[in-house]
Amino acid sequence: MISFPILVSIALLPFTLAQSTDTALQLAAIEAHFKQSLIVPQLLASFNPSALLTANYAGLGVVTPGQLLTKEQSAPTPEVTITPANSTVSLDGNYTIVMVDADIVGSDLSNGENRHWLVNGVQITGGKVSTDGATAITAYAGPGPATGSGPHRYVIILYSQPDSFKAPAGLSEPIGVTLFDLNAYQKDSGLGPLVAATYITVEDGTATVSIPVTSSVVSSTLVPVGPTSSGVSSGSSTKSGTGTASANTPAKTNSAPSLFTLSPLAVIFTAAAVLVVA
Ligand SMILES: *[C@@H]1O[C@H](CO)[C@@H](O)[C@H](O)[C@H]1NC(C)=O
Ligand SMILES: *[C@@H]1O[C@H](CO)[C@@H](O)[C@H](O)[C@H]1NC(C)=O
Repeated sequence: MISFPILVSIALLPFTLAQSTDTALQLAAIEAHFKQSLIVPQLLASFNPSALLTANYAGLGVVTPGQLLTKEQSAPTPEVTITPANSTVSLDGNYTIVMVDADIVGSDLSNGENRHWLVNGVQITGGKVSTDGATAITAYAGPGPATGSGPHRYVIILYSQPDSFKAPAGLSEPIGVTLFDLNAYQKDSGLGPLVAATYITVEDGTATVSIPVTSSVVSSTLVPVGPTSSGVSSGSSTKSGTGTASANTPAKTNSAPSLFTLSPLAVIFTAAAVLVVA
């Protein structure tokens, strides 16, 4: 969906680097990430976040969208920060936070996804997701992709949870990681719209399956988008990927993170392009 203010923000990027512009750019970038990694449409039919979601893993810090993490790095429950797109977005109320394993790019998700985290009734306190008084259905279970199964996409999503929400049978009490259908769950339980999301990539060992190459961005160079950003860990700024790989090229075994990496500028242009065509 074209947001004129966001387009203007991007157009004015060289001149105005206010924090709100930075948030808008990061939102545009995460939308681009979700399309390029095929999370949209493989997991989510559409993706129009009204806030930014950042995950902060102990010992690692804030991770960038799609960042490649080890099982060990992604094992602790992340601290999740929610930043509204603008001052008209209210973050009062109840929310549900969930993490699912959307498997590797190109996977058939018609049988559902493994649910690695599901907490109902979380609230946003001081910009952070607070589970105080919330109902943990599936406690955070760190990614554990099968060895050689390739880079799995673990998607963390915050949904609004209206008072009419009703936990479906089988998911009203604590339960471990099981396969479930995220979209059916959202619909059947009466969850509201997706508010914010991000994803990480976790792989164990060297892939023995063929992984389609996409121009998806697992880039530690994405954030900060503008010089006004602060406190966000950034990786090597010298990693500047190609971004030219075709989504249909059968690929290789994912040993080079740079394949998944775009320069910040490329991300900005891609994000702008996505906004223009959306
Ligand atoms: C604020 O953000 C929301 C969600 O992205 C958007 O729908 C709305 O148009 C924005 N409002 C302004 C004034 O930019
Ligand atoms: C959150 O949900 C509880 C239980 O339904 C409800 O009592 C409370 O008012 C809700 N809080 C907000 C801020 O909507």
